Amino acid sequence: GHIGGLLIPESWTDALGISETAYHAVAVTLGTVAGFCTLAGAAILIYRRRTVGPVFSATTRNDKLMYVLLIGTIVLGLGTTVLGNLTGHPHDYRQTVSPWFRSIFYLHPDKDLILAAPLGFQLHALAAWTLFAFWPFSRLVHVFSAPIGYLTRPYIVYRSRDDRLGAQSPRRGWERVGHP
Ligand code: HEM
Repeated sequence: GHIGGLLIPESWTDALGISETAYHAVAVTLGTVAGFCTLAGAAILIYRRRTVGPVFSATTRNDKLMYVLLIGTIVLGLGTTVLGNLTGHPHDYRQTVSPWFRSIFYLHPDKDLILAAPLGFQLHALAAWTLFAFWPFSRLVHVFSAPIGYLTRPYIVYRSRDDRLGAQSPRRGWERVGHP
């Protein structure tokens, strides 16, 4: 949804004959459903993290900060969208937030555009950039890993029941600790 809403200029959908009202109705409906589903999913996973002993004991402060940033970003996006539509005057963010977002990637950031958007969108975007900056240092980094090698790699032996490591003596540096 965000790829369409932020990266595709409004003039392109206008050219296809899609009115702002129609675009907005579809974006808000799908976006709001997806947003609430994401929050429900996060609630289930956080419940598991708290109630399953080994998962809880593996939970770090870093994870908690990540949850705050992730859920904060979602709540700010959802809250601003839902409140904006309840009041009956939804802001056309494709005139402000979206061109501002693109202007950053053209290396010509236009701050006046984002300053013209409601505070909720400004805070949502600020939370999102903070989340993106934190991303590589959090567990979320696993999003970028495709563990295809897992299918073919050898087993990892964490400990052996056997005192001997087979007929061959271990390579230098690979001797077992406590077993010279
Ligand atoms: C700098 C990056 C981002 C910008 C500029 C941005 C901008 C926006 C805008 C303009 C809307 C309103 C969409 C609409 O009414 O149709 C929105 C809604 C929303 N955003 Fe973002 N967003 C960003 C990143 C994120 C991230 C990383 C998440 C999730 C972690 C997120 C989650 C949401 C949700 C759940 C909504 C409400 C549902 C929807 O309308 O799509 N956003 N955001």
